[in-house]
Amino acid sequence: MGTGRPLGPAYAACRLGRMKLRAVKGTADRLPADHPRWNRVIEVAGRVLERAGIQPIATPVFEFAEVFERSVGEAADLVVQKEMYTFDDRGGRRLTLRPEFTAGVLRAYVEHGMHTWPSPVKLWSHGPAFRAENVQRGRFRQFHQVNLEIVGTGAPVADAEAIALFADVLRELGLRGVRVALGSVGDPADRARYNAYLRDALAPVAQDLSETSRERLRLNPMRVLDAKDARDQALVAPLKRPFDFLNPEARAHFDAVAACLDAWGVAYDVDPGIVRGLDYYRRTAFEIHAEGIGAQSALGGGGRYDGLVSQLGGPDVPGIGWALGMERVLDALEQAGVAAPVPDGPTLYLVPMDDEAVMEAAGLARDLRAHLRVEHGYARRAPGKGLRDADRAGARYAGLLGARERAAGVVQLKHLASGQETQVAWGDLLRTIERDTLADAVPGTGEPPRAG
Ligand code: HAM
Repeated sequence: MGTGRPLGPAYAACRLGRMKLRAVKGTADRLPADHPRWNRVIEVAGRVLERAGIQPIATPVFEFAEVFERSVGEAADLVVQKEMYTFDDRGGRRLTLRPEFTAGVLRAYVEHGMHTWPSPVKLWSHGPAFRAENVQRGRFRQFHQVNLEIVGTGAPVADAEAIALFADVLRELGLRGVRVALGSVGDPADRARYNAYLRDALAPVAQDLSETSRERLRLNPMRVLDAKDARDQALVAPLKRPFDFLNPEARAHFDAVAACLDAWGVAYDVDPGIVRGLDYYRRTAFEIHAEGIGAQSALGGGGRYDGLVSQLGGPDVPGIGWALGMERVLDALEQAGVAAPVPDGPTLYLVPMDDEAVMEAAGLARDLRAHLRVEHGYARRAPGKGLRDADRAGARYAGLLGARERAAGVVQLKHLASGQETQVAWGDLLRTIERDTLADAVPGTGEPPRAG
């Protein structure tokens, strides 16, 4: 993006019309069949969160680059690995496609003076985020998050509630066997002490670390703990963890969060070595993992970010939040065999059996749509084919319309599952379908059920 580099061969071929157009690597289309499951995740998350008084907010997909540069930290992967999509627009403004929601939501918090609202301010949102990542299973360049922020309280009960709400969302979706990893990265002074310790401890073996870890050791040593490289992992394995460096208040905060979770029966494992890819965390840090979805097993994560609101120009208020990765949660649901919701077909599918009936069927459909979900054929169809169309659309009823029906002012109405059919006057169609009496027929026979 605006790098001034020569355009690659793929782009050039595309411009010349030689390449088949396809979605950019790391992005994906969401086809109609994908939507029921997708919508369900958002609907369940919204229901669980709004039941807890959390309000919806939507912020723009792009912001001034500074919003993210001031917040995610100069040692964050997003910055170090140049994962942000930043570009100059025609007005010369430096803009960034949001790589995460927190910075934008807090920018909105400051801009709208939300610190004057009843505190804490609890906000949830969902939508796409963008990171120029190395694409692999569970790691995309456009991905989607459901995000929660609770701003204005430093109480440990808020941390615990946030974590419990995440677990509630996953449970209501039908996911079992997820693992909450809970830790603390301490206060800034703790982190400074820990980073100094790591620098000393790793200095003698620095040349054996991977390039990424060497870079991390220079910028933010704690992040070396998150190394994917097996050799790096072996080198850091015997070292102390951030948890060993907590000051007494940070430790008491952690214990209070854990005590709430214990009291509420929310299972978690203490992870003394948890470090997050973003730099703004203070004290509580957590991730939720699922098995069976490969190396990128974090369904989501978050933590406390006291100090971040003031970094963005607002008052010094604390906050806690998390984000759930939609694609990973959907992958986990699929792996766990949780059935996708079955989309509803139309209640009625109208089949025009001659040319004149095409417009009539469409008009009738328009009238009925105030009350029912109605589709129709766009061209004349033989009755057999029309019934097949209705079946393929997943309709409950088919309504056949032809010359004979027109003359009599009726529709030949067929309940597809039972095969039961009858002629119904246009004016009675709605009532007949709503009463659904044809559905009572014995399936497959078209016979009404026997009394008794
Ligand atoms: P994060 O750990 O960077 O935290 O991302 C949260 C979740 O988003 C990850 O656990 C993962 O499920 C998903 N995710 C992240 N990057 C990708 C990607 N490239 N492809 C697919 N899924 C991905 C945050 O974003 C913080 N803003 C969370 C937060 C909110 N902390 C406080 N408030």
